[in-house]
Amino acid sequence: MLVKKITFKVNGKEVTIEVDIRESLLDVLRNKFHLTGVKKGCSVGECGACTVLIDNMAFDTCIYLAVWADGKEIRTIEGEAKDGKLSKVQQAFLDETAVQCGFCTPGFVMSTTEMLESGKNFSREQIKKELSGHMCRCTGYHNIMLAAEKALGREDKQAVQID
Ligand code: FES
Ligand code: FES
Repeated sequence: MLVKKITFKVNGKEVTIEVDIRESLLDVLRNKFHLTGVKKGCSVGECGACTVLIDNMAFDTCIYLAVWADGKEIRTIEGEAKDGKLSKVQQAFLDETAVQCGFCTPGFVMSTTEMLESGKNFSREQIKKELSGHMCRCTGYHNIMLAAEKALGREDKQAVQID
């Protein structure tokens, strides 16, 4: 086993850890830091359940080696609420009842957060495209779209139609 020492920030805290160079960031976050909000779904980059922000960009951590995180800043769902207050995106998901079993929710929230913080305006079609890498096994896409549109400040969200 080849091991490498890496240092990165996770939810604002700097950490140093030895990892197997073949380990995914997903496994390191879940197994070594107990950040189980980062979900393990398909393990092959297809479902989006394992999405976190790395230097403020959304990545699937199941196909991202932990060694690549060296020097980077990682944000997971566990760090999004501040002082007991949900983030704007988390609150929108709650308001729109966009959660069923909740397995896919952290991934959707992190990708929506990336969109929100980009400061860009997204059309409904663009939001759909940005979130298309996420799967919801409960098929709650209608409310998820309502939540994403609410978080991103789209006024016409009531008229949303899911194809
Ligand atoms: S577990 Fe990573 S994309 Fe499915
Ligand atoms: S809420 Fe269950 S998988 Fe999406």
